[in-house]
Amino acid sequence: MHRLPQAVRIVEVGPRDGLQNEKSPLQLADKVRLCNDLSAAGLAYIEAGSFVSPRWVPQMADTAQVFREITRRPGTTYAALVPNLKGLERALEYGADEVAVFAAASERFSQRNINCSIAQSLERFVPVIEAASAAGVKVRGYVSCVLGCPYEGAISPRQVAEVAGELAAMGCYEISLGDTLGCGTPGATRRLWEAAKARVPVQRLAGHFHDSYGQALANLYASLLEEVSVFDSSVAGLGGCPYAPGASGNVASEDVVYLLDGLGINTGVDLPRLVEAGVRISKALGRGNGSKVGQAYGALRPA
Ligand code: HMG
Ligand code: MG
Repeated sequence: MHRLPQAVRIVEVGPRDGLQNEKSPLQLADKVRLCNDLSAAGLAYIEAGSFVSPRWVPQMADTAQVFREITRRPGTTYAALVPNLKGLERALEYGADEVAVFAAASERFSQRNINCSIAQSLERFVPVIEAASAAGVKVRGYVSCVLGCPYEGAISPRQVAEVAGELAAMGCYEISLGDTLGCGTPGATRRLWEAAKARVPVQRLAGHFHDSYGQALANLYASLLEEVSVFDSSVAGLGGCPYAPGASGNVASEDVVYLLDGLGINTGVDLPRLVEAGVRISKALGRGNGSKVGQAYGALRPA
């Protein structure tokens, strides 16, 4: 029997990864309400938006106002994604507690997503990480396309491990490995962690699974077996990447919490409140709830 972690830290990425790909624009008040609902549900780490070019991702153009208007819950970390120094400056100006830089394991995805090569992106992150550290702000790192790329197909775990190792050496305290395309399977996921753990201690690794092929929760479980204990997820299963056509949302936070509750693994999240947050944001967006638990909860909740 594998030993599973006793506690898992959830990084709620709904307000950023979730909303960055939405076709219909969401009112600022609904974004702010979402962040407040999530913190009230006990999510202690919320990626509230991104300071990227509004021409590239118009959905995130009002991240500064989101940061200005959210009610900061003590003990909650509000983070922002930043691609460069300009993004960092804005993140610091609007009081992001942490920032995240994002690289890829695929050259072609890197070009499409941030308009530069992997090596150039890492170079670009050096001053970002230095300036963030000087300001006392911790930096998380993402690697995208870790289990496949929409433009290149298969990606070798060695390549992922190399980029993750670079980000760790540059000063990212945690590296989140993203299955951007949502095409991974549990077997591939375990091989990925094997390679990544050879370069970065598992305590500094996190999993980020999109659910395009319905494998995200299985991949997350496979990751628990590899001692990974930090996962990114998105309320109501919102999400997608504008530069990964066809990729669907992140694994739903509600589904992750339900799974972990069932395994006796502590998350600190209040599931009924989280479900409410998911129902509300789905309504605001005028779309179905992407969380199976969110769908089932009202109708099928066991007595
Ligand atoms: P570029 O066009 O090469 O950059 O874009 P540039 O430096 O030439 O600047 C072009 C314009 O953008 C200029 O404005 C800059 O001022 C402005 P202009 O003078 O033309 O009016 N600009 C900015 N504006 C606001 N904030 C900034 C910023 N930087 C430049 N920070 C750039 C390069 C990186 C900026 C662009 O490609 C970009 O913003 N990309 C972001 C793409 C993105 O957000 N993708 C989704 C997130 S990644 C993801 O979802 C994957 C993840 O979830 C993990 C997973 O699932 O695997 C993390
Ligand atoms: Mg993502």
